[in-house]
Amino acid sequence: MSSDEMYMLYHGLMLPTAAHSLESLKFAQEFTFKDDDVLAVVYPKSGTAWMQEVLPLLLNGGDLTLIQTIPNWDRVPWLEETRLELVVDKMASPRAIVSHFPYHLMPPSFHTSKAKVIYVMRNPKDVLVSSFYFHQMAGFLSDPGTFDEFMNKFLEGRVMLGKWTDHLKSWKHSELGDRIMFITYEEMVQDLPAALRRMSDFLGRDLSEETIQKISHHCSFKTMKSNSMSNFSMVPKAYLDKDKSAFLRKGKHDKPVSPHPENGLTAAAAAAARHRSKDGHHYQ
Ligand code: A3P
Repeated sequence: MSSDEMYMLYHGLMLPTAAHSLESLKFAQEFTFKDDDVLAVVYPKSGTAWMQEVLPLLLNGGDLTLIQTIPNWDRVPWLEETRLELVVDKMASPRAIVSHFPYHLMPPSFHTSKAKVIYVMRNPKDVLVSSFYFHQMAGFLSDPGTFDEFMNKFLEGRVMLGKWTDHLKSWKHSELGDRIMFITYEEMVQDLPAALRRMSDFLGRDLSEETIQKISHHCSFKTMKSNSMSNFSMVPKAYLDKDKSAFLRKGKHDKPVSPHPENGLTAAAAAAARHRSKDGHHYQ
């Protein structure tokens, strides 16, 4: 597939054609949100698959059936992707849905519904590194080139779903009031039970400490990595080449990188410089 065929432009955003089509985008625009739907909005590589594990468990009191029997892309489908239309009729309420879309691309029914939103943010330097590796393994995405080349594309927003800052700003300024909660990937890495409690309170779920601990166990990096319904092992190698990188790759937040005092490097550039100085190939 040539790089031109790998993406379509939708309202100025690059979307991979492997998962999006004109039909899926029309379906998303006409989608009817229900009041008890829960939407996780996540910029790519910031914890989407993690939320596809967390939400069904929180919404079903820790029942493992969904996460052990349905692949994540069908159990918590993307609003904008092709699978939604195929599985939506089988989804029981309360439904969990994910989206990579910025706020202004939400369909009309989203605005009139009371559906709650959890926005997951991740340190952009780690998003960049995770995305760099993902572009190496994903046969349906363009070759990232060197880390420096990819960093420039990322900073300019010439990557799928556009610029990280535009995405975050769109949701930060959405004025959804108490319909939206913001959480960070780092918060989830640091203390998952506490993050789960915060999300469960927001969703009006009254879960016991035992259930929170159970959910936390099943959403840990280690457990998810061994769950074939969640680790993308069922995806053919032509789409995701696990020999190049794992989808559940590192699962950590990097130690803060201080800006270089002399030349004013940003954290990402400082990190790039540090990685480059090792062997030119290895990035965290
Ligand atoms: P890394 O590449 O840094 O490891 P997305 O699902 O939005 O594409 O995000 C993928 C990133 O989330 C990957 O980051 C992946 O390892 C991380 N991730 C997924 N599940 C996780 C978990 N249970 N704990 C920590 N990180 C997780």
